[in-house]
Amino acid sequence: MTAAKTLRLGIIGGGLMGKETASALARWCNLEDVGVHAELTAVCDLQPAVLDWFRRIPSVTLLTSSADELLASPSVDAVYVAVPHHLHEELYLKVLRAGKDLLGEKPFGIDLAAARRIRDEAGRLGRFVRCSSEFPFWPGPQRLVSEILAGRCGRLIEVRSGFLHASDLDPAKPINWKRQARHCGRAGVMNDLGMHAVHIPLRMGWMPTRVYARLQKIVETRPDGKGGSAPCDTWENALIAGEFPGADGSPVPITIETKRVAPGETNTWYLEVTGTEASYRFSTKEPKTLWVFRRDREQWWQRTDLFNTPPFRVITPGITEFGFSDCFQQMIAAFAAERAGVLGGRFGCVTPDEAVASHELWEAALRSHESKSVVAPG
Ligand SMILES: NC(=O)c1ccc[n+]([C@@H]2O[C@H](COP(=O)([O-])OP(=O)(O)OC[C@H]3O[C@@H](n4cnc5c(N)ncnc54)[C@H](O)[C@@H]3O)[C@@H](O)[C@H]2O)c1
Repeated sequence: MTAAKTLRLGIIGGGLMGKETASALARWCNLEDVGVHAELTAVCDLQPAVLDWFRRIPSVTLLTSSADELLASPSVDAVYVAVPHHLHEELYLKVLRAGKDLLGEKPFGIDLAAARRIRDEAGRLGRFVRCSSEFPFWPGPQRLVSEILAGRCGRLIEVRSGFLHASDLDPAKPINWKRQARHCGRAGVMNDLGMHAVHIPLRMGWMPTRVYARLQKIVETRPDGKGGSAPCDTWENALIAGEFPGADGSPVPITIETKRVAPGETNTWYLEVTGTEASYRFSTKEPKTLWVFRRDREQWWQRTDLFNTPPFRVITPGITEFGFSDCFQQMIAAFAAERAGVLGGRFGCVTPDEAVASHELWEAALRSHESKSVVAPG
């Protein structure tokens, strides 16, 4: 492989997602046709125990607690940054100014102003920058997107998109940074889960022009892990109802649901698009299945169990099941391929403009909730 077709990735923030990324890179041999060899070369985290975990990855030559040291390394071409949201802007800008490309985590800055500054600096410096959102890389959403792009829906009737967790249902679960506005951001659950729900809608051009939002704080305090309790001051559940202009200019309703207190939902990502000619429905609750609606004299929701055929070919047989770690690996492959100019017609990661648009939506939702009125994003 030539140097241009190699991606030497560094990670800043080796927690939950830093490790998921390391795992995706460690089994790169699973991928058949990315056209880029990617490997993990360096990791930065403030916790020695976290750094120790990465000793199991043979390609890693630098473990450090200094982001500056990682960014000075000639063995790093691009950096995946997975840290709490209040640190995104500072670290993303550092990466860009060190001359490295960036795969940022959502929400891509703690708020709209931060996201705009990151996007603008990336543009000024000409860096390749994308933001993480992996669920569209499942075979189901991929098929759904290709049906929409082929115009099979007819006139759009409605779009429903969401990402639901039950992880915060237990009030005895100790507090962490994701439940505190100063670390997670004022937009709360929308910052945390929202990018997943809007990646495909934004890519399809379905940016709402008017929204009405209802936000909920449900568990107001949590154990602080030291015998006391701490305020839990983020929005936990958010329901946004909006509309965007359809192909003929008439408004199409869209609902975007992000919840951390959703009974029975472990990690449920879903998208449903209805149209006059065909409708489609995918949920990670039925991970193999794409539901397709058709009508003749009668009306049918047809279930198709899709093969394991993600955008980048894998060695795993097509008859098997696709999973979360697979979609995460496919997303990193899309980043690597697009950076190298070999994405082809495949679906790409969230762009900086899309990340900014998502924050415009969250800010509008916050204003709508506060004023109890319909608000225009932007
Ligand atoms: N794409 C997804 O599905 C997904 C899932 C969960 C979280 N996330 C996002 O990933 C990011 C990180 O979330 P997480 O769940 O991995 O968090 P985490 O708390 O598990 O890990 C964060 C890590 O960052 C380290 N860190 C903190 N400050 C640092 C600094 N200045 N320099 C270096 N390391 C530092 C911490 O020590 C910790 O190990 C967030 O932006 C979050 O929204 C994405």
